[in-house]
Amino acid sequence: MANLQEIRISPSVLNADRDNLQHEISIIAEVSDLIHLDIMDDKFVPNFSWDFTSAETIIKGCPIPVDAHLMIEDVDRLALDYAAIGTASVTIHVEASKSPRATLKSIRSAGSSAGLALKPGTDITDYEDLVDVVDMFLIMTVEPGFGGQSFMGDMMQKVRNTRKIIGDRPIWLQVDGGISLDTIAIAREAGADTFVAGSAVFNSSDPAEMVKILRQRAASI
Ligand code: DX5
Ligand code: ZN
Repeated sequence: MANLQEIRISPSVLNADRDNLQHEISIIAEVSDLIHLDIMDDKFVPNFSWDFTSAETIIKGCPIPVDAHLMIEDVDRLALDYAAIGTASVTIHVEASKSPRATLKSIRSAGSSAGLALKPGTDITDYEDLVDVVDMFLIMTVEPGFGGQSFMGDMMQKVRNTRKIIGDRPIWLQVDGGISLDTIAIAREAGADTFVAGSAVFNSSDPAEMVKILRQRAASI
């Protein structure tokens, strides 16, 4: 059995109860490693979630570290704004960035961890040279934009390839999209160690218990 410490569960609050977000977060904070905050601008993806000011309030009020998953066009500029307010981890999409190396380095310089996300159609081998400026790779297992979509099992080869690229480096390997009790072990087996789960957690009758069970399921292989 894998070490439970090596497995991180990051609930996405995209489809949690927005009017009671602080409460929703408080329910799962103790059993979760991070909160995953999906930032969408209705340009990079066909959906809007929170503007910067609203996101800042959520991030500053969150009792555990936040990973901001930026699904926005203007990412090279805004990523630095997110880092500057003390967001623990800022994840940019390589497809949206004009200068991923420079942006990832700036995120780190501002004191945040730097994440690099890839949409399903984006090949990791085109970006493996960025490995020295990345703290976390995010392999999307759905097309970004919405919660509640089906897990794309055909992304597991990309997860395996990314695990090989990471090698011995202390880089997290995250998957996001369709992670549930049925899919988390598949992603774990392919090499993921950090798991975003939105609807699986917040559609559950007991979100905190679901986080614990997801962690156990990931550790069981
Ligand atoms: C999709 C988002 C995901 C989403 C995950 O674009 O990046 O983080 O909230 O939701 P589930 O777990 O329901 O697929
Ligand atoms: Zn996300």
